[in-house]
Amino acid sequence: MPDSFRFDRLFIGGEWVEPLDGGVRPSIDPATGAPWGDVAWGGERDVDRAVAAAKEAFEGPWRKIPPWERAALLRKFADLYATRVDALAEIETRDNGRAVRESRGDIGMHAQYYHWFASLADKLGGRTIPMDDSVHAFTTRHPVGVVGAITPWNVPLMAAAWKLGAALAAGCTVVLKPAEQTPASSLALARLFDEAGFPPGVVNVVPGDGPVAGARLVAHPDVAKISFTGEGATAKTILKTGADTLTRCTFELGGKAPHIIFADADLDQAINAATGSAWALCGQSCALGSRVLVERPVYDRVVEAFRERAGRVRVGMPLDPATHMGPQAHRQQLDKTLSYVAIGRGEGAELVTGGARIDRDGLADGYFVEPTVFAGVSAAMRIAQEEIFGPVAALIPFDGEEEAIAIANATPYGLAAGLWSGDTGRAHRVAARIEAGMVWVNTYRYIRWSTPYGGVKASGWGRENGLEGLDPFLETKTTIVSTTGTFPDPFAS
Ligand code: NAI
Ligand code: MG
Repeated sequence: MPDSFRFDRLFIGGEWVEPLDGGVRPSIDPATGAPWGDVAWGGERDVDRAVAAAKEAFEGPWRKIPPWERAALLRKFADLYATRVDALAEIETRDNGRAVRESRGDIGMHAQYYHWFASLADKLGGRTIPMDDSVHAFTTRHPVGVVGAITPWNVPLMAAAWKLGAALAAGCTVVLKPAEQTPASSLALARLFDEAGFPPGVVNVVPGDGPVAGARLVAHPDVAKISFTGEGATAKTILKTGADTLTRCTFELGGKAPHIIFADADLDQAINAATGSAWALCGQSCALGSRVLVERPVYDRVVEAFRERAGRVRVGMPLDPATHMGPQAHRQQLDKTLSYVAIGRGEGAELVTGGARIDRDGLADGYFVEPTVFAGVSAAMRIAQEEIFGPVAALIPFDGEEEAIAIANATPYGLAAGLWSGDTGRAHRVAARIEAGMVWVNTYRYIRWSTPYGGVKASGWGRENGLEGLDPFLETKTTIVSTTGTFPDPFAS
């Protein structure tokens, strides 16, 4: 464990405090199945303390700091973050098993997200609204208040960057509750906010159980907004929990992204993207192309390429820089993935390769699973409909544009989609008709600070990143000023 980071205290009101409710819990390394560190665990009273600190900071120093100084603090934080990428990547990899070559690449980009949000902090102007000469009407934009950020275990620091960067730039204060399986990196993040000189209470970090600490955060009357990434079922619970306090919510939920390969595509490039996206993060990301739709003339070639690539994926200890793919992030996810392999076989899909837990020497205690390919998948099968979150590619054949679009849209989800075609007209026609928050053409998973990210249908509410990323953290106030100061007596006649 890097010396400068410790995990056995909560970060509340600028202080490292012992939990009142939960004590410490071991965090499990999914590559070994064994604990690797003790992490502070907060309960309801700890969340209450954190919200009180965030409220005090919001009403006190944070509200008074001019936006360009908020921006400067965020930039300072971003620069500090950039110097700690290796240490943060190691912590995250320990907690969720993501291959360190991926963690470093991902975390290495986060400073740019914070810089992007910093660049927006002092540009949150309103507009003037054309009226007649008797009034001057204008809008101003104001932070909503205390934000509860609830994050998942697959990309804890990325989710934190998207939520905290935007919330802080907007002038909100934050209580961050990371996922049970991966709390450590968020506490490391708190240390960096502390070092960068953020006023006490602007950022607070409280790991804890979702139904306890998370639910308290949602129900707390002083929390104005919840920014959540995770499961759809949890989002529905959050809506109900937050109903009495009318808590605003944005949701980044699951996906079952179609990755469509037309026969006229540059197949080598399409296969690079489709295989990469099948097994990145051990399959544990909502935007991965877990459904690969392949036009029938090239279907067999693509299936063969997937089989061949699967054999080249180096599955191994995630801290080894040579490793391509680490374990599943926790035990339940391993079980879920293996159960979907059985479901796929039961539904009559052809298991081309993989599908088993890896029990070879050195990996048997971790949650490792083989890169897996199913062919002969039809759109209605459960493995083509439901989010597996494992390294399982489902290859679905199709004939022509219309069928590709129909299959692409035939799930409850609508987060992301990719398509490969050499025909520009077709690319536009198909992209326009896919129900998704993001469509990638002749590329895949191109995600940046400046491009809005989020889903339609069951994939979520609202957008993160881009210029739009700050909207959920702001209220618009309309001010109307009379230039005459006269108001007719309504009862004069
Ligand atoms: P989850 O939705 O249960 O957990 C996400 C976060 O919500 C965690 O911080 C958790 O503690 C918190 N939470 C849980 N119950 C809560 C409650 N009642 N009130 C407030 N907060 C609560 O997700 P889970 O169970 O870890 O993952 C299950 C599935 O969700 C995955 O297999 C995957 O399909 C999907 N998922 C999607 C993600 C995405 O990036 N869109 C990320 C993680 C999971
Ligand atoms: Mg859950």
